[in-house]
Amino acid sequence: MRNANEQRLAELREALQARPRVSLANLPTPLERCPGLTRELGGPDIWVKRDDLTGLATGGNKTRMFEYVLGRAVEEGADTVVAGAAVQSNYCRQLAAACAKLGLECHLLLHKIRGAEDEEIQGGLLLDLLVGAKVEMIEGIDWVEHGERIRQRAKELEAQGKRVHIGRVGDETSLGKYAVAYAAAFVELVEQAEELELTIDEIWMSSSDATQAGLALAAKHCESPIRLVGLPAVPQPISPGWTFAECIASHGNECAEILGLPTRLVPDDITSIVDYVGPGYGVLTDAGREAMRLVGRCDGLLLDPVYTSKAMAGLIDYARRGLIAPDRTIVFLHTGGLPALFAYADSLGLEALL
Ligand SMILES: Cc1ncc(COP(=O)(O)O)c(C=O)c1O
Repeated sequence: MRNANEQRLAELREALQARPRVSLANLPTPLERCPGLTRELGGPDIWVKRDDLTGLATGGNKTRMFEYVLGRAVEEGADTVVAGAAVQSNYCRQLAAACAKLGLECHLLLHKIRGAEDEEIQGGLLLDLLVGAKVEMIEGIDWVEHGERIRQRAKELEAQGKRVHIGRVGDETSLGKYAVAYAAAFVELVEQAEELELTIDEIWMSSSDATQAGLALAAKHCESPIRLVGLPAVPQPISPGWTFAECIASHGNECAEILGLPTRLVPDDITSIVDYVGPGYGVLTDAGREAMRLVGRCDGLLLDPVYTSKAMAGLIDYARRGLIAPDRTIVFLHTGGLPALFAYADSLGLEALL
């Protein structure tokens, strides 16, 4: 096997099979070549792993995660889920659709980060409402208080007799349970690459926690030569005083514990490039705008304004600056986020193209 140690991969597969899981995602997601972008940049050879097509109110990286996280919650008897994030949150959108599919009641406390623009029923918010989530909009509080409000709501629902599973931002203590899905995604990707006789040199992705953590843990466990590069969409990790590499390694190690694997990550195993976040979370950058238009024009591929546009901007910049050799094979993991495009229509600079 060119991308992983076969015996270690079998061990990982077995550990994953023992986890409770519900079926929510369309898997395997396609692994496609990007000939237009590859030509435009003069190499490297760029492929895209289409996790934007996982499904659940369009899809994205969270759909895989909910297979395991809600699989466990359902096994424990949950009938209600409470969670929160920003108004256009992809996590909340996919969670709301997963709850609808599984017959769970879904309560979302959504944080306005763009003022009045976030009140428009568009993008992720529109889909949350369509799939039946009970939405409360909040603003003017920090993430710590947001978490407290979610836990408070959970208590109120429990007092009404509901069996509540608390999601993010209410429970940020064990992100390793989300990373398990991306250890599984690593297995899926390696199997696809083997079938295509493709040797992957690097995987680039938008991530600051669970996605990279699961992939990194799996790659290390499988003694894979594939290098993983994560590009956060937030300027700092959610745990104050920690680096992204420390957080990701720690989530990866929780994932290893859950899976009963002896492999452990150290921060030096993690490559996290924060240079493409720009002025802040959810604020489009010029490089992100250019990446969206370039990839759209070259390969008909759509990126989102908050996550994948910034990660792709980083990959394009590294390729243009010659920091990635043109003979390397890169997989860009497309983590989704498409509905936010519509909510950000005014920031995309498309008027100039008319
Ligand atoms: C579209 C998209 N890409 C990437 C990410 C980052 O994933 P994580 O940092 O959890 O690995 C998210 C998180 O919400 C997302 O919605």
